[in-house]
Amino acid sequence: MRAVRFSQCGDPRDVLRVEERPDPIPGPAEVRVRMLAAPINPSDLLFIRGTYGRCPPLPATPGFEGVGMVEASGGGWLGHLLTGRRVCVPLRDGGTWSEQTVVPARRVIPLPADLPLAQAATFFVNPATAWVLTRHVLRVPRGAWLLQTAAGSALGRMMVRLGRHLGIHVISVVRRPEQVEWLMSLGAEQVILFDADRDAPERLVEAVHRTAGGPVSYAMDPVGGSLAAAVLGSLAPGGRLVLFGTLSGRPVELDPRDLMTGQRSVEGFWLGPWLEAQNLPGRLRLVRSLTRLVRRGVLATDPGPMFPLSEIMAAVCRAEEPGSADKVLLSLS
Ligand SMILES: NC(=O)c1ccc[n+]([C@@H]2O[C@H](COP(=O)([O-])OP(=O)(O)OC[C@H]3O[C@@H](n4cnc5c(N)ncnc54)[C@H](OP(=O)(O)O)[C@@H]3O)[C@@H](O)[C@H]2O)c1
Repeated sequence: MRAVRFSQCGDPRDVLRVEERPDPIPGPAEVRVRMLAAPINPSDLLFIRGTYGRCPPLPATPGFEGVGMVEASGGGWLGHLLTGRRVCVPLRDGGTWSEQTVVPARRVIPLPADLPLAQAATFFVNPATAWVLTRHVLRVPRGAWLLQTAAGSALGRMMVRLGRHLGIHVISVVRRPEQVEWLMSLGAEQVILFDADRDAPERLVEAVHRTAGGPVSYAMDPVGGSLAAAVLGSLAPGGRLVLFGTLSGRPVELDPRDLMTGQRSVEGFWLGPWLEAQNLPGRLRLVRSLTRLVRRGVLATDPGPMFPLSEIMAAVCRAEEPGSADKVLLSLS
């Protein structure tokens, strides 16, 4: 079978190779999944660059999620039940950019057969993050204002739809002028154009006040750097900002007095450890909510081009193109 591999961290265009590998054999309580498709997410590219927060044992295969068919079981009732089922494969240590992968049977998520391939391939990472951040971490009440940055991202567009679905007023911050009309046409309630590399932080604060009639109590930012610092300035006393990405690659400079005087707080969120801390009923409830909302389009992904494994270079170049909006997928079957 073929798999994408890298034996040193670096620019994906320099270090990724497609290699022929032996077919993996599932051990007890494991299943072998014949992969069908996987997305290229920002986290995959950080992982390859070695800046994801954990270094893989090398050589490694990237890919934190994807969809496939369970084709063999290494034993156990669960593996037996799953054989022949289409499943979502979320992998904390990567490995889905491969024609086959072996995983513990309890890690895979059976998916409805009628879910389109692109939605099945992107079923977990972004939908779960949008849902969990809103409902479980920030617990944004109906009618409240929520400020989000990088709103043109796949996850940002999910937040726009989720806000409407839950009755939350989402203020979306984008940095490209053409994204304002585009996001409005997708149903965004309020869009603010703000480029932290060009604009003074006060501009964001003023625009938020104008839009929401004052500072907001909830904010989420996957960019970091001066954008996250400007978002902090838009928070009401007692307000909370969750940082959940490092798209700018820059640290956030904070004035402790901004936090102290208004009892504001800044938190971090990472889906993997959050999920590990949930019990089985909690995980099942999460999967049920995601299935319902992905099906209804609320947490659906706008699919971009699909590349075969052999065109991995073209695929990662496309995924990193500035301003490219739709999720690039790898076809693995
Ligand atoms: N913590 C977690 O567990 C978790 C889970 C899921 C996702 N995430 C994070 O959520 C973020 C979005 O993921 P995605 O799959 O939705 O991404 P995506 O669709 O690939 O979109 C990336 C977006 O980031 C924007 N961006 C990149 N650099 C930026 C910068 N310096 N300043 C402002 N905007 C910038 C791009 O805007 P332009 O169009 O202007 O280039 C683009 O809209 C990523 O950071 C990802 O790692 C975190």
